Amino acid sequence: MMAGARLSLALLCLVAAALTGGAGATRKMVGVYVLRKGDFSVKITNWGATIMSVVLPDSKGNLADVVLGKDTIAEYVNDTSYFGPVNGRVAQRIARGRFVLDGKVYHTYINDGKNAIHGGHRGFSKVIWTVKEYVGGGDSPYITLYYHSFDGEQGFPGDLDAYVTYQLSSPYVLAVRMNATALNKATPVNFLQHTYWNLGGQGSGDVLGHTLQLSASRYTPLDEELLPSSGVVAPVAGTPYDFRAPTPIGARIRQVMGGRIAGYDINYVIDGDAHGMRKVAAARDGASGRALELWANQPAMQLYTGNWLNNTKGKDGKVYGQYGGVCLETQGYVDAVNHPEFPSMTVRPGQVYKHDMVFKFSF
Ligand SMILES: *[C@@H]1O[C@H](CO)[C@@H](O)[C@H](O)[C@H]1NC(C)=O
Ligand SMILES: *[C@@H]1O[C@H](CO)[C@@H](O)[C@H](O)[C@H]1NC(C)=O
Ligand SMILES: *[C@@H]1O[C@H](CO)[C@@H](O)[C@H](O)[C@H]1NC(C)=O
Repeated sequence: MMAGARLSLALLCLVAAALTGGAGATRKMVGVYVLRKGDFSVKITNWGATIMSVVLPDSKGNLADVVLGKDTIAEYVNDTSYFGPVNGRVAQRIARGRFVLDGKVYHTYINDGKNAIHGGHRGFSKVIWTVKEYVGGGDSPYITLYYHSFDGEQGFPGDLDAYVTYQLSSPYVLAVRMNATALNKATPVNFLQHTYWNLGGQGSGDVLGHTLQLSASRYTPLDEELLPSSGVVAPVAGTPYDFRAPTPIGARIRQVMGGRIAGYDINYVIDGDAHGMRKVAAARDGASGRALELWANQPAMQLYTGNWLNNTKGKDGKVYGQYGGVCLETQGYVDAVNHPEFPSMTVRPGQVYKHDMVFKFSF
């Protein structure tokens, strides 16, 4: 009763905010959209272009929701763990929220200590996207979401058109296709899909027993603020970051610090052609037999093991403890905008940023 009342109130406020967005603002409602293909289903909301759930069977036919999240949109509005959204305009950290592009200094919203993270306090994960197309069933159910980011939003230069498409196909494949076009100024762009996976089922415990394999022989060491301040690209060989062979996530997790807390929160350089579609990661939960493979066309991937989850309220009465989910966040190099030695994330007017991810599930 209380929760329902609060949800409707929050939705009314969101609709009102969208309606007062100025002349020509289109009416944008926050909704929940289901993509269904047999016993495989994915729930999306246009609040933050967020994946709310991914339901699939295990080898015995038991269905489980394998992503962490919240029950109501109102809770996503307040969420600080980034359960399932697309982060942008520039995901990950920008040192001191400052960068120089074509000789001009830009300051973006500071929301992580002294630094900016995930596009600012009202990044792409905290805005209403427009539903452009939606087909819930059939052979390849999909939804396409659109967001126009304005010049100066959260401190970033130029207007930017952004699209995200989520699509299901056989057998148990979820594709995420993201693109962005800079309309009038050069701007850094780095999108990142921030779903927390737990192949044993959301709220079923930690993921330390999941085996993980990464196509990454190098990584960028991060300092205590999770910035690549040294600019170094180092080999993983001989370090607890080496996941070239399938290894339980928990095997060496106590040996690594993700900033100020034990756990992985680290950027890998993916082997091979930086913009070719290639296998990035494979994860498997032995108990359920569920596995996922991630393919993507990005140069890097942040591995985050839910280090800060701490009795965090989740879905269906579940509570998430530390390491309750793992994020496989394909991306550009962290803070590339301040590191000329890293591949550039600058998109110039008329240029298109493309970021494709394909999750292949099996059991
Ligand atoms: C969201 O946060 C506000 C301010 O802290 C609080 O009043 C509200 O109850 C929260 N909503 C939910 C659904 O948790
Ligand atoms: C971006 O994605 C949308 C939706 O899939 C598509 O219509 C559009 O053509 C894409 N833009 C570019 C420049 O590829
Ligand atoms: C987890 O939450 C408890 C209770 O709020 C708090 O005392 C503790 O410091 C938290 N731990 C971390 C790592 O944030």
